[in-house]
Amino acid sequence: MFISFEGLDGSGKTTQANLLVETLKARHHAVDFIREPGGTDISERIREILLDKKHLGMNEVTELLLFSAARAQLVVQTIQPALKEQRFVVCDRYVDSTMAYQGYGRGLNLDAVRAINAAATFGVMPDVTFLIDISVEEIIERRKQSGTPIDRMESSGKMFYEKVRRGYLATAKEEPQRFVVVDGAQSIEAIKKIIWEEVEKRTRKQKAEMK
Ligand code: ADP
Ligand code: TYD
Repeated sequence: MFISFEGLDGSGKTTQANLLVETLKARHHAVDFIREPGGTDISERIREILLDKKHLGMNEVTELLLFSAARAQLVVQTIQPALKEQRFVVCDRYVDSTMAYQGYGRGLNLDAVRAINAAATFGVMPDVTFLIDISVEEIIERRKQSGTPIDRMESSGKMFYEKVRRGYLATAKEEPQRFVVVDGAQSIEAIKKIIWEEVEKRTRKQKAEMK
């Protein structure tokens, strides 16, 4: 089963993806945990270029193609082989990030982004996507408390993040079967429970369908 996590920077995705991986492992499931952009040597090197604060002049199309290039390598080298072996694949971000950030956030043509996403994924899509939805104000508040430094993407400003959030919610509406939108303002434990229940439900359904 292929599971992806989406949401704004600081929404709590990584926390939840880690917790899900721990739960799956505790139940003796084979699981690969991947972070995007990254996950292969080539993709990690592309990640460095993308997040480097020296690259503030990066063109939006360059950005779109670099995220997609990193993903194409990841799909072929890691995701497809893992799914073939019936492993769980948990991805911290996937193709919906590109639609939300480069499409809605940067304002690139949505159909062009869809076409590039289709090419970069070879049509491999998550069985379920958890969108951890949270207001930009809440994220700013959390960031102030933790004091973590920002990368190039995160220096894009509040308006940008408002557009990205709207983009995520619009994408989720287009594919209600795949998306589970979770209110990210809840406690870590409450969100963890919602996610685990959904994964169990879908795993049971998948097993029943395979019989
Ligand atoms: P992301 O991967 O979306 O950038 P993280 O999981 O790294 O987000 O979380 C960002 C920060 O918010 C971390 O300091 C984390 O401990 C905290 N955090 C995560 N989930 C919650 C939550 N539900 N409530 C409050 N703080 C949270
Ligand atoms: P990262 O530190 O992995 O994200 P997070 O803050 O969620 O832990 O940084 C990835 C950044 O790249 C983040 O700002 C989102 C952005 N991004 C895109 O703009 N498009 C994409 O396709 C992907 C995968 C990420």
